[in-house]
Amino acid sequence: MKPEIVVLADLSAVAIEAADRIVRLAHESIAAQGRFTIALSGGSTPRALYTLLASEEYRDRIEWDRALVFWSDERCVPSDDADSNYRLAHETLLSKVPIPSGSVHRVMGEADPEHAAMLYEQIIRREVPVRDSIPAFDLILLGMGPDGHTASLFPGTAALHEKHRLVVASFVPKLNAHRITFTAPLVNAAANVMVLVAGSDKADALRAVLEGEFKPDVLPAQMVRPESGQLMWLVDRAAAVHLRHR
Ligand code: 6PG
Repeated sequence: MKPEIVVLADLSAVAIEAADRIVRLAHESIAAQGRFTIALSGGSTPRALYTLLASEEYRDRIEWDRALVFWSDERCVPSDDADSNYRLAHETLLSKVPIPSGSVHRVMGEADPEHAAMLYEQIIRREVPVRDSIPAFDLILLGMGPDGHTASLFPGTAALHEKHRLVVASFVPKLNAHRITFTAPLVNAAANVMVLVAGSDKADALRAVLEGEFKPDVLPAQMVRPESGQLMWLVDRAAAVHLRHR
């Protein structure tokens, strides 16, 4: 299915578009199967989205007691660390909406990376409904770095070539840090994948990923090609400035 690329004025407009789509997807998933499985992204871009979803305007538009929340990647740090993707979402969103604590599945960033990855995969296989023999999230949120990485699938790392595991630990030399990340098979099994990109520092990578030569080892975000799901790129004008087709 051809990706949908939506160019919006700025990060705030990206957050609004994303929030409206998430509300709709949650409603559809809960109506169809009684639950909404979502994997949140990390970094700084989603902060505006999470804050908006927790606001008076949006808070009651998702049946949070029917949601199951995961993360598409995590830094190998404790949950109260400033770098924790869990902490970002907890502080801006999850502590402000009525989601049962048992429905929030964080990565054990404080644990041994390989062990944390194995445990997380077990939880996903237990909690997320399977389609075509692989757990299929209703929605996976992703971001993209200026180097074209997504989740914690970084250029030149072995995680890019994982074809069977759903979650792996990955040492990222450029960061000198371990990460836990969804693999391409898990991302591409989702019913919906939404990539949020904002800022001029992403412009070169965005054009290369969307319009350049297919070289996923260098531009891992090119690996995001859902088998049968919908792929949405919600990007701001600054990030889209070099796109020819928009
Ligand atoms: C992470 C993210 C990562 C992020 C991009 C963009 O853990 O850092 O999952 O993939 O989405 O690096 O980060 P920014 O939103 O901070 O630009």
